[in-house]
Amino acid sequence: MPDNALEAVGLHRAFGSVAAVDDVSFVLPEGGSLGIVGESGSGKTTTARIVVGLERADAGEVRVRGRDRTAGRGRAGRLARAREVQMVFQDPYLSLDPRTSVEQVLRETLRLHFPGTDHDRRVRELLDQVGLGTRAADARPRQLSGGQRQRVALARALAVEPAVLVLDEAVAALDVSVQAQILNLLADIRERTRIGYLFITHDLGVVRHVTDDVIVMRRGRVVEAGRTSEVLAAPEHPYTRLLLESVPRPGWDPAAIAAARRAL
Ligand SMILES: Nc1ncnc2c1ncn2[C@@H]1O[C@H](COP(=O)(O)OP(=O)(O)OP(=O)(O)O)[C@@H](O)[C@H]1O
Ligand SMILES: [Mg+2]
Repeated sequence: MPDNALEAVGLHRAFGSVAAVDDVSFVLPEGGSLGIVGESGSGKTTTARIVVGLERADAGEVRVRGRDRTAGRGRAGRLARAREVQMVFQDPYLSLDPRTSVEQVLRETLRLHFPGTDHDRRVRELLDQVGLGTRAADARPRQLSGGQRQRVALARALAVEPAVLVLDEAVAALDVSVQAQILNLLADIRERTRIGYLFITHDLGVVRHVTDDVIVMRRGRVVEAGRTSEVLAAPEHPYTRLLLESVPRPGWDPAAIAAARRAL
């Protein structure tokens, strides 16, 4: 039986009296793509940060390829954990050093995780994989477009050969044509590398396009889970139905949706 890339079991995280994440469990198969959807404040980012290790859980376990992620302390343990799960954020500006060229970014990452080897070929391979040319390789972040910066963030994440890529609203800031390019690129990469995606978005169109399975979160809890096509075609939970109805379209009535949300 193939290992699961990622398993979350009974995750909990409270901030004061707010249960940001409340008994969240899910499974991401190797090479699979799992979406997390839900309105603002439903606990998506907190869940992602726990998975990556940027936030601690009050309870629960995160397993990557069957192994508990809390095991292994110190620098070596931290590096090993970083290799397993990589995260791409909405705005790569915040995680890219303005003084460092694209090529340097990749070299630094490779040097940290795979010291003592020659990285020339791998750098070219990574640039190629995310569709960046040699001109972009010498550029600084501010000389690049939003789509190109997101490609750099992707290349850096892929450099460490992770089992899981967590994408938190990673295409939300891009205009729709660039968004489509990045989504297609992500689909290609998943096919070639078998990296599992944990894909967080508020955009149900994006979920439909890039995920196999989906969980729907509300107030920290998972209210619905299943195959993306089935959940979107025939949502069982009233909250999922409401999320679907909240997508603007002809005849759409925001006031009625707001009233239904209050009643839920
Ligand atoms: N560091 C923190 N301190 C206090 N409260 C927090 C913290 N991080 C998150 N929260 C709270 O936890 C809840 C879940 O937040 P989270 O950011 O996970 O939601 P989200 O689903 O990612 O929302 P969005 O779609 O707006 O990004 C919210 O009520 C938020 O205010
Ligand atoms: Mg968020």
